[in-house]
Amino acid sequence: MKKRILTGDRPTGKLHLGHYVGSLKNRVRLQHEYDTFLIIADVQALTTNWENPDQLPKDVREIAKDYLAAGIDPNVATIFIQSMVPAIADLTVLYSMFVPVNVLRHNPTIKTEAAQHGYTDMTYGFLGYPVSQSADITFCKAHVVPVGKDQVPHLELTRKVVRRFNDLYGEVLVEPEAMVQGLLKGLDGNNKMSKSLGNAIYLADPADEVSRKVSTAVTDPARIRKNDPGHPKVCTVFSYHKEFNPESVGEIEKACKKGEIGCVECKKRLAKSLNDLLDPIRAKRAYYDAHPDEVNDILRHGTQRAIEVGSETLAQVKDAMRINYFPKQGA
Ligand code: TRP
Repeated sequence: MKKRILTGDRPTGKLHLGHYVGSLKNRVRLQHEYDTFLIIADVQALTTNWENPDQLPKDVREIAKDYLAAGIDPNVATIFIQSMVPAIADLTVLYSMFVPVNVLRHNPTIKTEAAQHGYTDMTYGFLGYPVSQSADITFCKAHVVPVGKDQVPHLELTRKVVRRFNDLYGEVLVEPEAMVQGLLKGLDGNNKMSKSLGNAIYLADPADEVSRKVSTAVTDPARIRKNDPGHPKVCTVFSYHKEFNPESVGEIEKACKKGEIGCVECKKRLAKSLNDLLDPIRAKRAYYDAHPDEVNDILRHGTQRAIEVGSETLAQVKDAMRINYFPKQGA
């Protein structure tokens, strides 16, 4: 049997190149090697968006379309909606019995996000979302969880939950491993491309928008005239060439250092590489934009599979926790 991967995203808008480099590309590569589950974490999105859920139905489909457009094959991978899998909610409640509040309070990602949102008093759901994320990961007994660095504390909690559970009640759950992925810089040179920082190129951006955004990217600040020698090491555009243009990156580096290629030309070449990458993704997305029923069917089908897998794990968990009162009838 293939090992399982679980990973996913909060539906809070379209995915960008940072998601592509950091995770999507990897998922597409791994989907044949692993039994891949992709969670669209709508309940987790509510931990910060509970006051305005109007966008959720649309955002759930946007994420699904981004996955499909980037090359996730719905015949191989399981794309599903978190809120529709009852086992995830059940497991969250059961795990919350033995997760200490202080562990959550000290979670660095929770602290950072709470500060970003300006929370003075966190909701129970927000503070506890790492517990829910442990349920996301364990309901299908995932072995591997590909995530960005910011998610590592949540993975550590999941591993603790699994060890504690198995110690207390017997070996039921699988301890997952993190597969940590790199970050892509933002166009403004910030270490992270992110929607909230407004420094992102979206997978769904049209070609001219991509070119326009690339033309605004920060470069080597010491380079004023075209013939000044550049410092690729500090240049955001160069870091993108490394990622998206591996064949020519050596030549660009030399030319930049000698002042033989100007930033305008260098950006044009980057925009071309990005658009070459994004053209087929945009085409696939256009297909799914035109076939919303197909997207819905894929989501229904994937969610059905997740529900089945989850109910098996939940039954084992309930057995182990001695809360299975009528085993034969399965009630
Ligand atoms: N917290 C993740 C994010 O913000 C999304 C997510 C929810 C997730 N459940 C998960 C990621 C389970 C990996 C595994 O990006």
